[in-house]
Amino acid sequence: MYRVRSVNPESALNLEQLGTKRKYWFRQDGERVLFKAEERGTGEDWAEKVACELAALLGMPHVHYDLATEMGTNNPGVICSSCVLPPASLVLGNQILLALDKRYPVGTRYKVQAHTVDAVTKAVRIIRPPSDQWMEHAPDGIESAIDVFVGYVMLDAWIANQDRHHENWGAILNDHRLVLAPSFDHGAALARNLTDEARQMRLTTADEGARVPTFARKARSAFFKASGDKRPLSTRAAWIEFASQQPEAARIWRRKLSEVDSTTIEEILRQVPPHRMSKICRQFTFELLTENQRALVDSTA
Ligand SMILES: Nc1ncnc2c1ncn2[C@@H]1O[C@H](COP(=O)(O)OP(=O)(O)O)[C@@H](O)[C@H]1O
Ligand SMILES: [Mg+2]
Repeated sequence: MYRVRSVNPESALNLEQLGTKRKYWFRQDGERVLFKAEERGTGEDWAEKVACELAALLGMPHVHYDLATEMGTNNPGVICSSCVLPPASLVLGNQILLALDKRYPVGTRYKVQAHTVDAVTKAVRIIRPPSDQWMEHAPDGIESAIDVFVGYVMLDAWIANQDRHHENWGAILNDHRLVLAPSFDHGAALARNLTDEARQMRLTTADEGARVPTFARKARSAFFKASGDKRPLSTRAAWIEFASQQPEAARIWRRKLSEVDSTTIEEILRQVPPHRMSKICRQFTFELLTENQRALVDSTA
């Protein structure tokens, strides 16, 4: 079972204003650590934990999350160490895009049509790859920031992460250099806000249109193909688009994904305490991951 860390709200140093959920920074063993509370009961805690363990299987640079409980309130949540050591700072995607295009709509977060594959690729191509500490387990041949970013997009398609908007990726600025930040904030992934009744229905219904494979195909990314498009790309179409920008890196990531076996996925899901993730939720999440894995491995990207 994954360990669950205890967080004392009285140790809070400052609230994190960015993002949507209540969260605060505190100090632990000399590190700055962020507690992200899950107060709405929509499973962001287990989704964040499972997603980071899956990213680890791929050797992808990612923020590591531990499950946590807040003392006093008993609120579930997750904690993670800051990926930025002062004097370095985090520069989010929207700021990088703004630096390249003065008209980039930096203030809006969702349905940003200017968040196109081309604009993001152009931005990521000017930043350096994550530092060695994050690249330790990256597969051979993954070298540039765009090589790594293509992997983030594949991870998103695997875990049905619809939330890679321009404040959920970024770069670390250190000594006038920008390096790609590890992947973070996957708490909205894995269809974590479905009810167990809906999961049960999708697992058992005879209606093809409601079953997991159809459901899985519908996940939407936060990337647009062209800035005039009404709808963002599906997570799978976004993968195809990014993969075509960097075909060799895509091949390497896809091979890495093909090597993940189902027992390993089951083991990750089994390690989440049962009161945070029900049996049916585990089953559904397993099906979703397996279906997306199959589709990505079979893709011609
Ligand atoms: N591990 C981290 N290291 C440094 N900054 C972080 C880290 N995690 C989150 N942040 C900062 O906090 C913001 C909100 O965190 P995020 O995980 O994206 O939460 P939310 O789910 O509310 O969007 C991020 O945009 C980033 O600026
Ligand atoms: Mg966020």
